This record gives sequence, structure tokens and C-alpha cells, in this order.
Amino acid sequence: MYSMNELILKKRNGGVLDEGEIRYIIKEYTDGNIPDYQMSAFLMAVWFKGMNDEETSFLTMAMAESGDMLDLSEIKKSTGGQPIIDKHSTGGVGDKTTLIIGPILAALGVHVAKMSGRGLGHTGGTIDKLESIPGFSSELTEEEFLEQVKSVGFADMCQTRNLAPADKKIYALRDVTGTVDNYSLIASSIMSKKLASGADGIVLDVKCGSGAFMKDIPSARKLADIMVRIGKKCGRNVTAVISDMNEPLGRFVGNSLEVMEAVKVLQGGGDERLCELSVRLAAEMLLLAEDKKESGLEDALKRVNEVLSNGKALQKFREFTAAQGGDTGFTYEDGGLEKAKYMIPVRVEKAGILVSCDTEKVGLATLSLGGGREKLTDSIDPAVGVEICHHLGDKVEKGDILAIIYANDESKAETAEKYIREAYETGIPEQGNTKKPLILDIIR
Ligand code: URA
Repeated sequence: MYSMNELILKKRNGGVLDEGEIRYIIKEYTDGNIPDYQMSAFLMAVWFKGMNDEETSFLTMAMAESGDMLDLSEIKKSTGGQPIIDKHSTGGVGDKTTLIIGPILAALGVHVAKMSGRGLGHTGGTIDKLESIPGFSSELTEEEFLEQVKSVGFADMCQTRNLAPADKKIYALRDVTGTVDNYSLIASSIMSKKLASGADGIVLDVKCGSGAFMKDIPSARKLADIMVRIGKKCGRNVTAVISDMNEPLGRFVGNSLEVMEAVKVLQGGGDERLCELSVRLAAEMLLLAEDKKESGLEDALKRVNEVLSNGKALQKFREFTAAQGGDTGFTYEDGGLEKAKYMIPVRVEKAGILVSCDTEKVGLATLSLGGGREKLTDSIDPAVGVEICHHLGDKVEKGDILAIIYANDESKAETAEKYIREAYETGIPEQGNTKKPLILDIIR
């Protein structure tokens, strides 16, 4: 039928692949009938020649259908047919918005069936954060997961092994063949997992800046545009929010520290930027769930803020945590999760305005403390991390506390301190521009 060699040549020469050809490549590679060397050559041909929207949609659907497709129709029946909305972040540092958004939507009667991943490298994973809560289990069976979504309104489980297995295999190959940074490959990788998780609508948080894949607004916009278009081609409603990742989101990076920070927002306080992004993402999800146009945004924002200030979202967080076996005691007291042994301040060396942050280095600081993993099999220390005491644009004096390192090992703290010092720069801002906006664009 098809020949992989001919398909590689077709793409290498700038040809456009049809659905049958793309499905053949994905199926045969997943089944082990196409060797890594041919798939690597194909991915490199895609990297150079690109794929059009139609090819990218075929690739997305083929990867989504390479494993289990979660059926959420039972949940939809229980809510009178309301669409199921998912949210996905393209990966950043200090991003704990899922822990805030899930309970907000559940409090508003919108069901959220979330599958999350573990962290790798400088970015954290929601599952690791949740597992820093004593007793919390993210290993649910599909029945338990669906039951909890119906009864509580929100469940978050570890991505099942058979969710888009083609993506898992291809991503591992891209990682070692210089083919990660291609728009069609990134978009299809992310969207295939979202489609397999069964959502009707998806809000994408496309991160942009020094801690993200996309370093500038034009490239973040290009990725967001492609994902919105292919989502629509695959019959899903998609909104992309482009948000700044030129500094960590919120003040804390590290698993239990981030859970406590998320609870602060649910208690009606917390970091302003973290709160702003969580509220906006939740409101955009509400619009999709209720099939409302952008004109409904003001009302959606109001309703989201209401469940934050009247404690209903916090109550949902407690219900959700307890349903997955977690001890909710920490949500009743200030800073109630396990803390690291040492709290070491990092002081400002040069007075001025904080003008830039290499956000990836803040992630690496947490990784070096043991708060993240270099390989998927590494174990992590939930209590360690970093508190960043200032945002970009803040004026700081020599000797002010820039950050606090939460460590269980003093020598690891030294490495983390080095990363934090390298990450931040004080100086005179260009064109008097100090504070940067958090939400950079919305693409519908
Ligand atoms: N995240 C993914 O899931 N896939 C990519 O290709 C990039 C980021």
C-alpha cells in the first residue's frame, strides 16, 4: 500500500500528505512497524517543510485515536447536555491555575474532567502539586473519575498510559532529534491529548516569555492560531489566552508551596497576577460551557469572582480533595502543608528596578532543590521550592529580600541561590516601561 520511504520523500520535497497517508504513518509507527530512523527523517522533513492546517488536523486526529478516547457522554447527560470544557497550559513556572479553576467552575455548576501530567525539567506538573497533599491520590479508575466528576463537579487524575500513545512515542523521538520546536508538531501533540480526553471545548493558556516554549508574542500567537483552527476543524470550540511567562506565575514555585498559594486565592486573597489569570481562564471556560459570545464576558467574570469571595470555590476544593483521599486540614489554617527545614533569603545585590527574569532558571532552582524531576522516574521532594518576593517592575534596594529558598539540604540551596541570582537583573527599564501586562491576547 504505502511506502514510508516514499512518504518521507514526498514531505521532504514539499508535498502535501492526505489523511490516509498520515493515518498510515501514525498507526504503523505506534505499532512498531516503522523504525525510529524513518520516523526521525519524516519528522525532520515536517520540521523543514511544515504542514498545512488540513494535514495538522489529520495528524492530530490520528494521534488522538491511537489509544483510548474518553467518553464523557454520561457526565453530559447528568448536566442536561452542557458541553464539557477542558483547559490546557503550554507549560510554565509556578502555574497552579488548574487547582483554582476546577473548583471555581464546579462551584458554578460546570463539570470539569481533568487529566493532568507530572512535571519534567524546569516546568512543574499539576499531579505533583496535588500529590503534595497528604493522602491525595491521582490514580483513579475511569469509573471513579467519571463518578467524581458527576458528584463533585471536578476530578483531576493522572493521564492514563493509553491516552494518545502515538504522541508519547513521537514526543520522545522529537526530544532527541531536534524536532520539538515546530508549530504543527507542537499543536498536534497538545491537541491530540485534549481531544482524547473527551472535551467539547478547550481553553488554551499559551505561555509566552522566558519560561515558555514561545519566547515572543508573534510566535505564541502563531501557535495559538494553529491550535484554535485545528481544534475547530476537529469539531471543538477553542479559545486561546496568550499569557506572560517572563516571570513565574504567582509568588511560589514548588509543589506544596504552590498548593498553599492556590488555596490563598480560593480564600479570596493571594497574588494579584495569579488571581487575574485564574479568573480570566475560568470566565473563558464558562463562556464555552454556556455557549456564550464574548459579550457575556463581563457577567462571566462577575460570577467567577462571586464564588471566590463567597467561599463556594474553596468549599469545592475541599470536596474535590477529600473525594481523592486528601487531608483538607491544611485549608483551614495558614500555610498548613509540610514545610522544608531551611528558609534561606536571597538578598538584592544592586538597587534598581527589576527589569528581567530568566524564568527557566527559577524553575531550575526548584529542580536543583529536588522539587522537580530530570527523568520521569525521579522522585521529588514536595516541600522544597522558591518564594519570589518581587514582581518585574518593582523597585528594590540593596539588601532587600529578593527571594526565599525553601530547602531540605543546604548544599542544594547554594545551587538554587546561584540560579536565582542569575535569573534576575536590576537596572533602568527601557522607555520607562516597568510593569508588563499579564494577558497579552485572546484568540477565539
Ligand atoms: N507540550 C506537549 O504536550 N507537546 C509538545 O510538543 C510541546 C509541549
